[in-house]
Amino acid sequence: MRPFDAAVIQSALRGYAVGKEVKVFDAVGSTNQTALELARQGAPEGTVVLANLQLAGQGRRGKRWFSPRDVNLYCSVIFRPQISAESATLFTFIASIALVETLESWGVWAGIKWPNDILVQKKKIAGVLAEALTVEEHLEAVVLGVGVNLNVSRAALAAALGPEAQSAIALHEVVRTEVDRTEFTITFLRRLGEEYERFLREGKAAILKEWGDRDLVTGRRVLVKEDGHAVEGTALGVDSSGYLILETVPGQTQRVISAEVRFVDHP
Ligand code: BTN
Repeated sequence: MRPFDAAVIQSALRGYAVGKEVKVFDAVGSTNQTALELARQGAPEGTVVLANLQLAGQGRRGKRWFSPRDVNLYCSVIFRPQISAESATLFTFIASIALVETLESWGVWAGIKWPNDILVQKKKIAGVLAEALTVEEHLEAVVLGVGVNLNVSRAALAAALGPEAQSAIALHEVVRTEVDRTEFTITFLRRLGEEYERFLREGKAAILKEWGDRDLVTGRRVLVKEDGHAVEGTALGVDSSGYLILETVPGQTQRVISAEVRFVDHP
């Protein structure tokens, strides 16, 4: 598999909002942790961190992200928007749109399961982890981490994830050929830069509207697990902050900020 070449990727991203600096690491704990450290040291907006291997890839809610060597995409991008810390969650939406559009250029239709799962054929192909770097409640930077299963084998998924591997999928299984990681990465980072600029120009309503076209959750019966307690309801959509509105009993709603969502009608 072709290794990442920082110079090739950086030059393909010339003129885009993302990729002014591209740093490739052979192995890191987590690209998000590396990017957060670089952000603390003052790295500029648009800095990209890529790794061939993550030894401690992080998922949401303290989970691990399976990150085997050389086969997938593990990347984190530093943004420095002038917005409130609360609005940082919108970066998950920006990345999700860029991901589904990138997959579309590989001829694959993907949907978004709130808050951060990208699904193909009802299985998870990618996840997004946005982390805010704040100083005294001021948002200094957002680190947007994205992991995409590109070429990982079914056997490796099964060995690492056990029964959960059945709800994961890799792009090569869908397109039935090896996926060029560099090409996928460049396409994704270009789209991400364009979507970010759209957010700066048109605001969050435009992003939420676009996101809504790929939303798999609204209108569905879901089980929402938040901090150890579970509640079932009908998803009514997301509010202007990107929080899920859940109707628990007819006429009674609650706002869900961060949770694990399961569809009730299929596993
Ligand atoms: C999730 O679905 O739970 C989010 C997964 C995010 C994984 C990516 S891989 C690159 C970046 N570095 C990390 O440690 N996590 C994110």
